Amino acid sequence: MAITTLPALPIGAFSALAQPVLTAENVTLRPWTIRDVDAVLQGYGDSSIQHWHVRSMTPAEARAWIEHWPGRWAQDSGAGWALEVGGEVAGQLSMRHVDLHEGRVEWSYWVLPAARGKGVATTALIAATEWVFSVGVHRAELDHSSRNEASCRVATKAGYLAEGTARQRGLHSDGWHDMHLHARLRSAVSVDA
Ligand SMILES: CC(C)(COP(=O)(O)OP(=O)(O)OC[C@H]1O[C@@H](n2cnc3c(N)ncnc32)[C@H](O)[C@@H]1OP(=O)(O)O)[C@@H](O)C(=O)NCCC(=O)NCCS
Repeated sequence: MAITTLPALPIGAFSALAQPVLTAENVTLRPWTIRDVDAVLQGYGDSSIQHWHVRSMTPAEARAWIEHWPGRWAQDSGAGWALEVGGEVAGQLSMRHVDLHEGRVEWSYWVLPAARGKGVATTALIAATEWVFSVGVHRAELDHSSRNEASCRVATKAGYLAEGTARQRGLHSDGWHDMHLHARLRSAVSVDA
C-alpha cells in the first residue's frame, strides 16, 4: 500500500549527523558514556523517578540502557543525552520516539533530586527542541501525568502548549493516571511561557 504523502524528514535525518553536544546556560547535553552507569543507577534508584518513569534498573540494565542509544541514533529512532552541570551528570533528556515521515519527536526527562529547581530540565528541553527544529522536525511533544505538576511546569516554561488530557492513559504503581499532552511546532517556535 502506497503512502500518499511525502516524508517530512528523510531516512538519515539524524543518523547522517553526529549526535550533537549542546550547551545552554550552565547545562551541557552530551551523549552517554559507560562511565555514567552510576549516575543512571542513581536516577532510576530515586523514588520519584521510579514513580513517574515506572521503571527501576540493575547495574547490568543501566549499562545496557547506555549502550543501546548509539543503535537508536543509527536507526533514526531515538537519542539519549546526559545533562551535565559543573562536570557532573544532573539528569537526562531522551528523544524516546521519532516519526520521520511525520517529522515528529517525543521527549522524556528526569533530573537528580539535588539538581532540581534550578532550571536544568527546562534549559535542556529548550536547547534540544531548538536543535531538532533546526534539523527539520515539524512537531515536538511530550506527555506527563496530570499529577506531575513539576513536569507540567517544565513543559509550559519550555513553550510546549497544553493540548489536552488523555484519560487514564498512563499506568503507574498507584493505578491509572490521566496524561497531559504538550507540544511545540517548528512553525511557532517562540517560547512565550
Ligand atoms: C520534573 C523534573 C524533570 C523537573 O526538573 P527541574 O530541573 O527541577 O525543572 P526546572 O527547574 O526546569 O523547573 C521545575 C519547575 O517545577 C516547579 N515545581 C517543582 N515541584 C513542583 C510541585 N510539586 N508542584 C508544582 N510545581 C513544582 C518549580 O517551582 C519550577 O517552576 P518555576 O521555575 O516556575 O518555579 C524533576 O523534578 C524530576 O526529575 N522529577 C522526577 C521525574 C519526573 O517527573 N520526570 C518527568 C516525567 S514526565
